[in-house]
Amino acid sequence: MVMENLLSDGAGRRIEYLRISVTDRCDLKCAYCMPPGGSEHAPACDIMPLRDFLRLAEIFARLGIRKIRVTGGEPLLRRGVAGFIGQLKQISGIGQLALTTNGINLSRMAGRIREAGVSKINISLDSLRRERYEQITGRDGFSNVMEGVQAAMGAGFDSVKINVVAIKGVNDDEIEDFAAFTRSMKLQVRFIEFMPASRSVWSEEKFIPVSSIMEQVGAMGKLIPCAKSQWGGPAQVYRLERAVGEIGFISAVSRHFCGECNRLRLTSTGKLMTCLFGADDLDLRGMMESGADDAAIATAIRDAVARKNPVRSLPACADDFAARPSMTCVGG
Ligand code: 5AD
Ligand code: SF4
Repeated sequence: MVMENLLSDGAGRRIEYLRISVTDRCDLKCAYCMPPGGSEHAPACDIMPLRDFLRLAEIFARLGIRKIRVTGGEPLLRRGVAGFIGQLKQISGIGQLALTTNGINLSRMAGRIREAGVSKINISLDSLRRERYEQITGRDGFSNVMEGVQAAMGAGFDSVKINVVAIKGVNDDEIEDFAAFTRSMKLQVRFIEFMPASRSVWSEEKFIPVSSIMEQVGAMGKLIPCAKSQWGGPAQVYRLERAVGEIGFISAVSRHFCGECNRLRLTSTGKLMTCLFGADDLDLRGMMESGADDAAIATAIRDAVARKNPVRSLPACADDFAARPSMTCVGG
């Protein structure tokens, strides 16, 4: 195939990063992610076969995607995910593979995932207290996740990050504990602002801005800024003096980063989302089923990206977002 144009949107943002949600299922029920009562799953037949994800990934790579993150739901629940990652790794142009997991099944899979080619792994962990972890996630899985974190640290990933969604009245009394964790652990703890993923669980009273988290962490010692890596996302990264690990802050709401957004999302049912907030989805699976060739798919992707939402503020986005089912289907 001829070399195609790199993807860029109407605002001139160059798109190099694709998140692939390989399943909408999850073995946890994090209160902030799922609406109360649980989220609805797509019927199994709607979930796209991994070979179709691979075909699309190759098209995306030819369009200039350089980094892929495999997410869910919980991606490690998808049968064959390690082999899938190994095949993604073979695609020419893909420079980096990352994975976001809840860590429940990680201890037995970390080695395979690393060998398959994932270099960066993010693990969701919102409490360091066993009982509270169960309250937040609906499952007594704290030790599984901690074993998963240990396994990941031993498996030789370039980076291991712990995602902490900071929620007032839920885990805000653990901010210091999480920060202290980085004194001896060579990983990055990332505090993420609670985003309005679905109206029923988000409220302004539960929101903690990064500025106040930073203030709290800053009171523990000097915060030294770390250099941004090549693939550095929207996090501001620091290190506490003498700590071996790092602390990242993601102001997803208070300093909304639309303007720097370089990512696309592919859902488990094969829809392309160019923006989390209300942009039209492009049904790539439908196109494949009706026999579209790679060139037609590439053109449709390029057109959708050109229509990617303009930069706007989160309150406007949040209204649109209430119409979205939940974060579970797109993995953050
Ligand atoms: N706000 C912020 N982050 C969220 N995630 C899911 N829901 C939310 C939310 N409402 C992110 C978390 C989690 C990942 C799977 O998705 O970082 O670790
Ligand atoms: Fe929790 Fe992630 Fe599962 Fe959502 S997808 S319930 S955040 S583990």
